[in-house]
Amino acid sequence: MKFLITSLFLSASMSLSVQAGPPEKLPYKNPALPVEERIKDLLSRMTLEEKAGQLNQVSGGAFTGPALNDPGQKAKMEDVRKGRMGSFLNVSGVAETKAIQKIAVEESRLGIPLLFAMDVIHGYKTVFPVPLAEACSWDLDLMEKSCSTAAREAAAAGLHWTFAPMVDISDDARWGRVVEGAGEDPYLGSLVAGARVRGFQGKAHDDAHILSTVKHFAAYGAVQSGREYNYVDMSRQRLWNAYLPPYQAAVEAGAASVMNSFNVFEGIPASAQPYLVGDVLRKKWGFKGILVSDWASFDEMIAWGYVSNLKDAVEKATNAGSMIDMESRATVNFLPELVREGKVDIKLVDEAVSRLLRIKFEMGLFEKPNAYSDEQREKTRIFTPENRKQAMETAKRSIVLLKNQNNLLPIAAGSKKIALFGAHANSGQSALDFWSGAGDARQLVTVEGGLRKDFPGMTYSKGFEDNGQSNPALVKEALAQAQQAEVLVVQVGISGALAGEDRSVANPIIPENQLELVRALKATGKPVIALITGGRPLVLTHLEPLVDAMLQCWLLGTETGSGIAEVFTGRYNPSAKTVMSFPYAVGQIPISYRMFNTGRPLPPSGDSTWKSRYRDIPNHPFYPFGYGLSYTKFDYGTAKISAPVMKKGGEVTVEVTVKNAGQRDGEEIVQLYVRDFVASIVRPLKELKGYQKIALKAGESKTVTFKVGSKELSFLNAEGDPVLESGKFSVFVGPDSKNCQELALELQ
Ligand code: NOJ
Repeated sequence: MKFLITSLFLSASMSLSVQAGPPEKLPYKNPALPVEERIKDLLSRMTLEEKAGQLNQVSGGAFTGPALNDPGQKAKMEDVRKGRMGSFLNVSGVAETKAIQKIAVEESRLGIPLLFAMDVIHGYKTVFPVPLAEACSWDLDLMEKSCSTAAREAAAAGLHWTFAPMVDISDDARWGRVVEGAGEDPYLGSLVAGARVRGFQGKAHDDAHILSTVKHFAAYGAVQSGREYNYVDMSRQRLWNAYLPPYQAAVEAGAASVMNSFNVFEGIPASAQPYLVGDVLRKKWGFKGILVSDWASFDEMIAWGYVSNLKDAVEKATNAGSMIDMESRATVNFLPELVREGKVDIKLVDEAVSRLLRIKFEMGLFEKPNAYSDEQREKTRIFTPENRKQAMETAKRSIVLLKNQNNLLPIAAGSKKIALFGAHANSGQSALDFWSGAGDARQLVTVEGGLRKDFPGMTYSKGFEDNGQSNPALVKEALAQAQQAEVLVVQVGISGALAGEDRSVANPIIPENQLELVRALKATGKPVIALITGGRPLVLTHLEPLVDAMLQCWLLGTETGSGIAEVFTGRYNPSAKTVMSFPYAVGQIPISYRMFNTGRPLPPSGDSTWKSRYRDIPNHPFYPFGYGLSYTKFDYGTAKISAPVMKKGGEVTVEVTVKNAGQRDGEEIVQLYVRDFVASIVRPLKELKGYQKIALKAGESKTVTFKVGSKELSFLNAEGDPVLESGKFSVFVGPDSKNCQELALELQ
């Protein structure tokens, strides 16, 4: 009966292949057959409309309770019944996913199960530190584990698919989305991308893992002026060397899907960009997974001025190789027509649909449509004490010690009278960013909550308004409390509400009303510690001289306060290092350690006229990439290179002995950089090519060895092929990108 009704909208060419018969006997429903055969069979039964439907994705919302009477939700359910929907985003929870999945498998003609996706970026219910913070740990296992826990929780809530990791390289603190990435460096970014993909996906499809999505393809991190959704323009050689490596690493790690970015590349919106989608992703990298547009990015091609209507948008996007249409509802409405008109080859459509179906078959959803939706798992796997403990471990490893004059920190629990200030220090909500999944601010350990456990007598007052307005009464109240305390702790920075999508700011600074409080606190003569929060590096130039110690705390998720307390009290010795340069001033942005010598390099000293410089600030950032202190002291011995000359195809080793010369055990991230002095495409002054995070007991020494070979010394040309050119190089080893020992190396 169902077949009779739906055959009304079959195209003439497709209807011939549709066979009637009891559905359970159909080959695609037979799990004993190879997936390939099942896909072929199912594809042969699908109408063009149903194929286009598979490529349609919209934001789902609720499908139970009052939603059942909502016209918008009813229309979505009807789309599912008619086979006009392949996946949803933003449907989660066992009850919701089961409700709509039931309609898909029981009421649609072919019973194709839906996929459920969500932005599970840094945790589902247990919120981990934001990705930018986690990346500062440089600890790949740690990041892999936090993604795998996020996946385990998300899968228990019926989700199959996340839109993460975001691997956009960015050196622009104005862009709110830097919070989602791993910072400015393509080498570190690539390692992090791979680790995150492995964490989300595991080794096989199972109910403890979810599909990952590498986004935003490509070069979204280079939006002009750090303004969200803005224009991008760059050369292909820069694209290959500075932006593409993390996407490639994620694809190589087996990422199931890739998301088109909102920006243009070479004047063409990324969703329809034949070079990015076709030449790079599909041909050069041989990507076999699914592509999903960003939210309405097909539609946005109209506003960009690239196409004049939705139909043209689908034609361009599909012909470029893009597949799933998120939220434009363009593919579902226009793709069949475009195929019939001969404007889009059916082969492209079949390929895209096959890729999506393969995932659904491989996940076992045809046999068990609710394989991921299980009440028991939803109750027992989410927000568990173990997951929270892991979030806390991750939080403490993400905090960067930026300054520690006279070893003011750590302060042992209960050993001093503390006064805490800061408008966000007692707020769970402002510790959460836009991408906090199903995280609940009420369950978050605030800065105050965390520190109070160790300092029960601690006082707290806001000290400043969180709207940037000056309020002398708050400062006065803070000063009264400061009089009673021995150490003043002030949480400064910007709230999580200003981190993430649509959160670009022109001034990533510590607001003036916060500095006003800190100045008053400093004037008391008591030691002042700043806890800096926010989803991006802020200009700290004016804050730094006012305080004795600074902990860059980012946004640490559920265990914000507990993680901070671990570091504050010294139960954990901080080991994180910055993955984005901290700008000296707003005008210095974008800023990265990967800068170029220029034709007029600024000499270290002496006459700097007519050189590449600012008249008012230094060229270098306030805190360089790779920087971070410890409560102990690491002494670097003299670095050695095994040979000053290397033949192509050869390898040298670089060694340095690092000693923990302080009183506490600690961890150090030893970094290796190279510089290529003369190349057919000019190279940056330094490029990270290796690092090792080592644990050293107080007094202990370890020798760290790095291998330097063709891979480390080559760069990519404008086609993305590695190029190794003989000549003079430098190899640098050190604790950050600025303070390195330099060793000469000649490649012959
Ligand atoms: C738009 C964002 O750019 C993207 O990162 C996200 O995955 C989608 N919206 C879906 O929420």
